[in-house]
Amino acid sequence: MTKCFSPSVERNKHVISEQLTVYFKQSQDVLEIGSGTGQHAIHFAHKMPHLNWHTSDMPENHASVKAWILESGSENITNPVKFTVGHDSWPDVNVDAVFTANTTHIMQPDEAQAMMEMVASHLPKGGVFCQYGPMIVNGDYTSDSNREFDDSLKQRGFGGIRDIEQLESWARGMTLVTKIPMPANNFLLVWKK
Ligand SMILES: C[S@@+](CC[C@H](N)C(=O)[O-])C[C@H]1O[C@@H](n2cnc3c(N)ncnc32)[C@H](O)[C@@H]1O
Repeated sequence: MTKCFSPSVERNKHVISEQLTVYFKQSQDVLEIGSGTGQHAIHFAHKMPHLNWHTSDMPENHASVKAWILESGSENITNPVKFTVGHDSWPDVNVDAVFTANTTHIMQPDEAQAMMEMVASHLPKGGVFCQYGPMIVNGDYTSDSNREFDDSLKQRGFGGIRDIEQLESWARGMTLVTKIPMPANNFLLVWKK
């Protein structure tokens, strides 16, 4: 099994975990949607030993996630389950929190909508959803670089950066508790059911 490596995860994992330690303080079981390489899972599970961190992604990413988990020796992370939003049903795990990073702008709009609806419907009352990535705010990009990034995403066939207001309209049953500006023109959106 080969570990894949994302330099951006190494850059953002510390600032994200500073926030997650606050918002996942009362949580027990977190489903991560789109675990990618697996680096976030290892870091967050280590920083928040009170959590059980459940990884998920499309099958092509599972080998890397498993390799990172194996190397970490962590006991509070579970191997990835197959979960492609818009195609698969909600994983068979009981969770009271959900995390996702840099997936919303990769997903097609209907998949991003399905993610918001599924999270809203499957979280228990009081459950928390932390969503990290670039966002459009009130119809505008937050930087020129995000505008260029969005153009390049769409040219490559990805869904593109979503407006926070649009996410709110899809997230029926959840309240957007806070939107935290993060480095490199990203946000951490914290939703509560
Ligand atoms: C840019 S990567 C981000 C990976 C990781 N979360 C990170 O922050 O580095 C986008 C991830 O979203 C996943 N993804 C794309 N479409 C998805 C979908 N419909 N359902 C679940 N995951 C999806 C990809 O497999 C990939 O792991």
